[in-house]
Amino acid sequence: MLTKGRNDAAQADRTFRVIVADDDPVTRRVVQQALNQHDVEVQPVKTCAELHQSVAADIDAVLLDLWMPDQNGIECLRQLRANGFDRPVVMITGEQKAQHAVEAMQAGAYHYLLKPLDTEEVYLVTRQAIRAYRERTENAGLREALGSSALEREWIGSSAVSRKVLATAHRIAQSDATVLITGETGTGKSLMARMLHGMSHRAAQPFVTISCAALPRELIDSELFGHEKGAYTGALRERPGKLEIAGAGSLFLDEIADLPLSVQPKVLRALQEREFERVGGNTTHRVAARLITATNQHLEDLCRRAEFREDLYYRVSVLRLHLPPLRERIDELPELVSHFLKKSRHPSGEPVSLDKKAMATLAQYAWPGNVRELQSVLERAVTFAPQPLLGVADLQLAPPLTAAPTASLAGRALAEIEAQAIRQTLDACAGNVAAAARVLGVAAKTLHRKIRTVCPRDGQSDHSAPVQKNAVDYS
Ligand SMILES: Nc1ncnc2c1ncn2[C@@H]1O[C@H](COP(=O)(O)OP(=O)(O)OP(=O)(O)O)[C@@H](O)[C@H]1O
Ligand SMILES: [Mg+2]
Repeated sequence: MLTKGRNDAAQADRTFRVIVADDDPVTRRVVQQALNQHDVEVQPVKTCAELHQSVAADIDAVLLDLWMPDQNGIECLRQLRANGFDRPVVMITGEQKAQHAVEAMQAGAYHYLLKPLDTEEVYLVTRQAIRAYRERTENAGLREALGSSALEREWIGSSAVSRKVLATAHRIAQSDATVLITGETGTGKSLMARMLHGMSHRAAQPFVTISCAALPRELIDSELFGHEKGAYTGALRERPGKLEIAGAGSLFLDEIADLPLSVQPKVLRALQEREFERVGGNTTHRVAARLITATNQHLEDLCRRAEFREDLYYRVSVLRLHLPPLRERIDELPELVSHFLKKSRHPSGEPVSLDKKAMATLAQYAWPGNVRELQSVLERAVTFAPQPLLGVADLQLAPPLTAAPTASLAGRALAEIEAQAIRQTLDACAGNVAAAARVLGVAAKTLHRKIRTVCPRDGQSDHSAPVQKNAVDYS
C-alpha cells in the first residue's frame, strides 16, 4: 500500500485516488491492475474533456496519455494547471522521444512513463509523485506555521513607516485581488512583489515576472498570452505565455505603465472575464493566477492623457501598496547600511563599517535611486576603500540631479548638458539603464542609443557605476 504522509491526519484513513486518462483500453487496464493491488483507487477516463470534468480536490495524481483523441496531452496538462489543479501529473507516451518528455516536464508534468507500461514502474512512479507533492505542500505548511515573519525579514527597515508598509503587505498577501505597487525607482517594488507571493497561499506555485519596459512592444502580447505555431512570422512553434506558465501562482506585471495600449483590452478581459486566447489561437484558457503589478509612474496622469485605459487602471489597482522613498525613512539608513555591509570583508579580512561622518553624509543625501543606489554606493566604496573603516572620502555620491542653478547651464552645448544628465542619472540608478530611462522620461532603447551617441565613453563601459546584478540587459 502507498505509505501515507506522517502529518497527514486528515487523509490518514482515506484511499488514494488516481485518474488514468488514455483512449487505449490496454493502458487503462494495466494502470488499474498496477495500482489497485496497492489499494489505490483508479478512475479511468477516455478523453481530456472527461478528465477536466473529473479532476477534483481529492484526486492525488493523474496519469495522462500524450496523445489523446480530443486534445494534445501537453495542452491538456497546461489547461489543468491554468485551472488551478496542482497535483502531480505523469505523462504516458508511446514514443521514446526525449523532446516530448522534456516538453511535458516543462509544462509541469512530474514524470513520464513509456509504453508498453511496466506495472511495477507505474506503481513506483505514481507513489514517488504523490510523495513529492506531499513534501512540497508540507514545506509550504511549515512556512505558514513559521509565519510570514521569515519572509518579512527580507525587508530591511523597522521604522514606523516600514512597519506600516509590512502590515499592509501582510493583509494584501492574504487576498487574491489584483494589487498595484507604487514607488520611485529602487524603493523595493520588485522585492515586495516576490514577498507578497511568498506570503500568500500561492507560495508553492510559480512566481512569474514580465517587465513591460524591457520587452519590445510587439512581443508583449505573445510573451504574456503565448502564441500558436505560425501566429506570426518567426513563430515556428507554439509557446505558452507567462500567464499560462504562472498557473495558479502569481504573475508579476512589472512597469505596467509601459503596457502598450494595443494589449490593454486583452489584459482587461483576462482580469475581468478570467479568460484569454493565445496569439493566433482559438482555444480559450482560464486565468488562475493572481496579478501583481508595479509602476513608478503616475497611472492617473497617464489615464488623463489617454495613454493608459481608465477601466484597466481601476482593475489593476483594486489594492494598492505605496513604497515610500528612502529619504522619507532615512532613519532606517543604519539598518540598511549594516545589512548591505554584512558580508563585505576588506582584503585584510576585517569586516567593513562606516565612520560617523560618512553615515551623516549619507543621511543628508537625497537618494534619487533609493535603496538600489545605496547598495551601489556601498559596493563601490567597499571595492576601492584603502581601509576597513569607510570615511566620507570613500563615498562617491552622484551630484544632485536638479540642484544645478539654471544660470550655470547658459552657454553650454545642449549635447553636453544632456550627456551630463544621462551620466548623473545612470549613477543615481546604479547603472540600471531601464531605471535611468524611467527617471529621464525616455524609452530604455532611446537611452541606449543616446549612451552610444551623446556620451560614447559610457557606451564603451567606461561608466564608473557598477552595473547591478538585476540591471536589465538590452544588449
Ligand atoms: N527594504 C529593503 N530591504 C532590503 N533590500 C531592499 C529594500 N528595498 C530595496 N531593496 C533592494 O534594493 C534593490 C532595488 O530594489 P527593487 O529592484 O525591488 O526596486 P524597484 O522599486 O523594483 O525598482 P525599479 O522601479 O527600478 O524597478 C534590490 O536589490 C532590493 O533587494
Ligand atoms: Mg523593479
